[in-house]
Amino acid sequence: MDMKQIPQVSLPQYPESYWLASSNIPRFPQLTKDIHVDVAIVGAGITGITTAYLLSKQGLKVAVIEAGQMLSGTTGHTTAKITAQHGLIYDEFISNFGEEQTKLYYEANQQAFQFIKETVDQQHISCDFTHEDAYIYTNSANYVEKMTMEINAYKKLGIIGDYLEQTPLPFPIKAAVVMKNQAQFNPVSYLTHLIQQIVKQGGQIFEHTTAVNVEKGRPATVVTKAGYKISCHYVVSCSHFPFYDGWEFYFAKMYAERSYVLGVKTERAYPGGMYLNAEEPNRSLRSAMVNGERMVLVGGESHKTGQGICTIKHYEALKHFAKEHFGLKEISYRWSAQDLVTLDKLPYIGQNQADTPNILVATGYKKWGMTTGTAAALLIEKLVMDKESPYQELFKPERFHANPGIKNFVVQNVDVAKHLIAGKLEMIYRKPEELGNDEGAVVKVNGSRAGAYRDQQGDLYLVDTTCTHMGCEVEWNLAERTWDCPCHGSRFSYQGEVLEGPTDKPLKSLQM
Ligand code: FES
Repeated sequence: MDMKQIPQVSLPQYPESYWLASSNIPRFPQLTKDIHVDVAIVGAGITGITTAYLLSKQGLKVAVIEAGQMLSGTTGHTTAKITAQHGLIYDEFISNFGEEQTKLYYEANQQAFQFIKETVDQQHISCDFTHEDAYIYTNSANYVEKMTMEINAYKKLGIIGDYLEQTPLPFPIKAAVVMKNQAQFNPVSYLTHLIQQIVKQGGQIFEHTTAVNVEKGRPATVVTKAGYKISCHYVVSCSHFPFYDGWEFYFAKMYAERSYVLGVKTERAYPGGMYLNAEEPNRSLRSAMVNGERMVLVGGESHKTGQGICTIKHYEALKHFAKEHFGLKEISYRWSAQDLVTLDKLPYIGQNQADTPNILVATGYKKWGMTTGTAAALLIEKLVMDKESPYQELFKPERFHANPGIKNFVVQNVDVAKHLIAGKLEMIYRKPEELGNDEGAVVKVNGSRAGAYRDQQGDLYLVDTTCTHMGCEVEWNLAERTWDCPCHGSRFSYQGEVLEGPTDKPLKSLQM
């Protein structure tokens, strides 16, 4: 056949998560009056919803508030692997924190896995939950020894797994480590069920309600952007990036990464299992059944938010990988997610500070939010119910491990300083009038740096590119049509509205 006749498989024009597209999430009103509850939960992803489910089941009066729509953040854009295999971490964690603490990390995530499985089984939740083995593999000689060290760590910790020289994947590998009997599901279907249970258990849910501050005390008060107040015995921040800092300086203790997913129909059969490679560029694989047909989720291409190449190129790289190894029939979906990584790679879960024991936070899941977000909810339930948990010291937000904390703190904050300066010195040549429809760029307006996007109808949107968090210059994200900050990961729509914190203030609109 003439090559010119082979139809090119193209990327969908706009991002859309399969999980969100395939579910029917109930909608909730805005908060329009002051209320009093036992627990105010800010953020409606897996952590906030699971926490509200657990605490309302305990008979507490809960209110969940979400700045946008339920599940529209990272939970709605994950690859939804339910596993305690969080990359090559166990050997590293044993070196940094010791065997006992590392075992606790594994157990917290394994317990979260068990909670999801039992909840799905007992409540007959239709969410495509299937057991799968989780593999981490390498094709780099530099990582073979690390694989050996990782399986030795598994043995020390009692994790069931094996060292392998081949996997079911249709391409050769140099080495792999498998963790047996993990799982995958549709997280939005699962959490939609929990949302219905929260409502049945008397919980209140409010969408399009942004929390902007906490007035400390007993009771504490959550203040919303519209000026309404929720007084409560406990505040729980599950807003991905904590909406309340309380002098913890989370922006200096975490960095934001973006990663990408394609949902593809393939020419060659997918062998089952969940996969991740160890080296760069990272690749993640799993599958999902869509109307009786298997769709492969090809993920990866992580990079710091607002940094790196033109974002559409990350999807192109995943497309190339899928085509090479499975053959491409169709790309049905493309979407991306933002994740937060802490200095020592452990999440921050628990009391924000010792002197405010009724303000709790959960963040920094390093891409493993299905298990870690659930583990966070289980720990928060214990803290609110005034019970001990074996995990509270390990995940305490106030901790500081000298190794690797200090080194990573310096690296992170030098990187921020570099971007703060680089954005200000950049030469800009483009002008708004040069932009075609559906095109965005950094441009010069009245002699200053500005962000411009011309929509499909030809309407032009101009924003001040100075990030409202700490003044770095945001960059255009072509694939998502957003403005992303390279310093701490705040993101804005092309009109300047806040999509991700730490900031809670929109970009300033500009006129020509
Ligand atoms: Fe901190 Fe933009 S997110 S300066």
